[in-house]
Amino acid sequence: MTAHAIAVRLAGARDAQEIALMSRDLVESGLGWKYDAARVQQAIRDPETLAPVACDHGRVAGFAIMEFGEERAHLVLLAIRPTHRRMGIGRRLVEWLVESARAAGIASLHLELRTGNEAARGFYRALGFDETIVVPGYYRGRESALRMIRVLRATGPVPHTWRRPSTT
Ligand SMILES: CC(C)(COP(=O)(O)OP(=O)(O)OC[C@H]1O[C@@H](n2cnc3c(N)ncnc32)[C@H](O)[C@@H]1OP(=O)(O)O)[C@@H](O)C(=O)NCCC(=O)NCCS
Repeated sequence: MTAHAIAVRLAGARDAQEIALMSRDLVESGLGWKYDAARVQQAIRDPETLAPVACDHGRVAGFAIMEFGEERAHLVLLAIRPTHRRMGIGRRLVEWLVESARAAGIASLHLELRTGNEAARGFYRALGFDETIVVPGYYRGRESALRMIRVLRATGPVPHTWRRPSTT
């Protein structure tokens, strides 16, 4: 299998259960299961949220969930199956979200990860995110989180680049 065989598309209702199980096993393990199928379904339906999935022959190999605000977007979840790691799939999903965020006029991307998650730390650094602060007890009072940020543009109004086409 090569990374070229992977297709990225938006998640649909039929993906909720698969994504929820991946979140339970690959992201939330040891913390309790917050992103169950109902919660993931809610995120997929939310017009302020984007949930792309990377599929390998129809099966979800990786997914991400990002919530969009006015100027800030929050990467809530991201996971790639262990069998599909280090093939550029995580990068592809995040860059897909970065392009969507730029198009939406987002100024900065934010995320949290467990402070001990060295793999994700290395991954996000490689994708241009900077570490900001550690939040003790962020994960249900049990584990601390490291916050990271990627700035896309200066805050404030989006530069006005559109011009009415000339009719002459
Ligand atoms: C973190 C994670 C999403 C990375 O996904 P991935 O598809 O394997 O990452 P990519 O192949 O796109 O890696 C892109 C770059 O990130 C960096 N990177 C990726 N995994 C890394 C690791 N384990 N250690 C250090 N750097 C890493 C590398 O620079 C890599 O480029 P390279 O392979 O050319 O060296 C994946 O390991 C994962 O799902 N982990 C479990 C869930 C998790 O921790 N999610 C994030 C917190 S919510």
